Amino acid sequence: MTNADFEKIVDTTDEWIRSRTGIQERHVVEPGTPTSELAVRAAHEALERRGILPSDVDLIIVATVTPDMVFPATACIIQDKLKATRAWGFDISAACSGFLYALTMGAQFIETGAHKKVLVIGADVMTSILDYTDRTTCVLFGDGAGAVLLEPSDGEAGILDFFHEVDGSGRCYLHMPAGGSAMPTSRETVEKRLHFVRQEGGQVFKYAVRKFVEASRLLLERNGLTPDQVDCFVAHQANGRIIDAASERLGLPEGKVVKNIHKYGNTTAATIPLALATALDERRLKDGDLLLMASVGAGFTVGSVLARWSRFAWD
Ligand SMILES: CC(C)(COP(=O)(O)OP(=O)(O)OC[C@H]1O[C@@H](n2cnc3c(N)ncnc32)[C@H](O)[C@@H]1OP(=O)(O)O)[C@@H](O)C(=O)NCCC(=O)NCCS
Repeated sequence: MTNADFEKIVDTTDEWIRSRTGIQERHVVEPGTPTSELAVRAAHEALERRGILPSDVDLIIVATVTPDMVFPATACIIQDKLKATRAWGFDISAACSGFLYALTMGAQFIETGAHKKVLVIGADVMTSILDYTDRTTCVLFGDGAGAVLLEPSDGEAGILDFFHEVDGSGRCYLHMPAGGSAMPTSRETVEKRLHFVRQEGGQVFKYAVRKFVEASRLLLERNGLTPDQVDCFVAHQANGRIIDAASERLGLPEGKVVKNIHKYGNTTAATIPLALATALDERRLKDGDLLLMASVGAGFTVGSVLARWSRFAWD
């Protein structure tokens, strides 16, 4: 769906969307397509690239704010559709930081030796919760899914450290008011359009820039690293200007910063795995590279993960 498509449904322009967000187009599912469907496709592709079967997977962790339904967990639906017969799994809800939280959690199961193959999926069908009469939110988001497979490593490669933080006092700035136990679905909640994303963009913008920088600096400093040692910076893709401002403050040159928001918009839990795929496609992430990932999302949730990249069979 392009910015020009939005010009036909809300009072906006391609110029406004591009200049304020960097977004040119976003991908949109057919109405009624569940998150699990995108997630299963991403999972299949990750497993095929690695050359293993779904039945080899031990654990499936799914980050999403648009589960197929409130319960059962989307991880259960994915486990069944994927035929990952040996796997257990669960969902986590951390909005745009969901993928990094899921990644960190998955890594703990590998580090303890409990599991050898953990599938971490970030997937969201944001169009299922967008108000297409609200120009301040509907132009920002898209649908997407990405998956990574975590395995034990014997060299220096792997997840080196993480720093996560929440500030629940910011929960009012980005949320979906109704549909939970605090405000169960009723005729009134539907009529008042309370089942859609609500956001105070300016508040989120300022917080995101500050926290991308703080979380990234803290992680680098406590590992005795400086920004110039980072080879690749993959930040949550919410707004091109947030990524630019944060990477400039961190002193990271454009060549090390991955951006694909122009093609996908904000896909919430999917932006970081999609950006990793972009980095690999563009040959900007290579074996041995120091990878810094950062996210800020509704909650507020903040995440940063430092990894030494190693991967199998991308081509
Ligand atoms: C939403 C966002 C793009 C708005 O950009 P901004 O520069 O802060 O713009 P403002 O909110 O100050 O709005 C400026 C004007 O543009 C208008 N506007 C908002 N959306 C618009 C649209 N799609 N088209 C045209 N005008 C729009 C506003 O109504 C406002 O008009 P006003 O001054 O007459 O009231 C920006 O705040 C943002 O990206 N925030 C973070 C969002 C985010 O990352 N969310 C996910 C977090 S994980």
